[in-house]
This record gives sequence, C-alpha cells and structure tokens, in this order.
Amino acid sequence: MNKRVEEILNKQIEAEAVSSQLYLAMASWAESSGINGTADFLYLHSDEEREHMLKLVRFVNERGGRAIIPSLNIPEQDFESLTNVFTLLLEHEIKVTNMINEIVFVCLEEKDYSTHNFMQWFVAEQLEEEALARNILDKLKMIGNDKAGLYLFDRDLETLQNADPNGAQA
Ligand code: FEO
Repeated sequence: MNKRVEEILNKQIEAEAVSSQLYLAMASWAESSGINGTADFLYLHSDEEREHMLKLVRFVNERGGRAIIPSLNIPEQDFESLTNVFTLLLEHEIKVTNMINEIVFVCLEEKDYSTHNFMQWFVAEQLEEEALARNILDKLKMIGNDKAGLYLFDRDLETLQNADPNGAQA
C-alpha cells in the first residue's frame, strides 16, 4: 500500500476512535443526567464511529498496509447542556469531514484510485452526519430553555432511533 495513503488512513483510524470515545462520554453524561433518549442516540452513534474505525482498520490490513490501533486521551466528561453537546458534535464532524477530504486529495495525488473509491462511502456518510447534526442543533436553538420542549426533543430522538433499524446516522 502507498505509504503516504497508509499514514493518512492511520490518522483517520485514530480520529474515528476519538469520535467514538467522545460520543460515548456524551452518552454517559446524558444518561446520568436522565436525558435517556439522547443518551441512546449517542450510544448508538458511538458504536457507529467504532464501525467506521474498523472499516478503515480492515481496509488498510487487507491492502497490505498495517493498521495501528491508537491510545486515546480522556475525552471531555462534562457538558453544560444539550446545545453544548450537539454544538461540539457538529464541530467535531466538520473537522472529520475536512480530514476525509484531505484523504481523498492525497489519494488523487498518489493515483491510488481504489482507496479513492473506498473513501467515497465516508464522503457520503459525512454529508449525512453533518446534515443531521445541523438539523438537531436548529431544533435545540428553537426550543431554547423551554423544559417541555426539551422533554419532547429527547423523546423524539428516542423515536427517531427506534424508527430506523440501522440506527440514526449522526
Ligand atoms: Fe465517522 Fe462521524 O464520522
């Protein structure tokens, strides 16, 4: 496997692991705050990030590279509010999108068209994840500090998740 591509894919493996840990910390905060619909949504989202990481690990190894499993720093544990959680989540996803775009760029520079092709799934996934995070954040901005609104928001996230057998794509 092209060394430059292998290196940047290993960076992405780390980024997906960081995402999974961050969303897990958010899920734990939400659950312990009694915001259970949001907690379920975030637990599922954390699992999805781990799947993204595994997808990359398997790809690198199958292509004759060596996937490196990173150690991680402790993620943030305390959040001010749901708006704070989803603002951080969106910021994080935008950062990940930029990283994915950089990989696509490197693939083209290195003429690695099969990795370029493989990365198209991630490009599409990032579009969906950013759109959903923006949508959730817009709803939270409308609700503001209205307790009844927040209660319904939390219940809606639970419903959204139960309605989608593949889980919400956040
Ligand atoms: Fe794996 Fe949310 O990007």
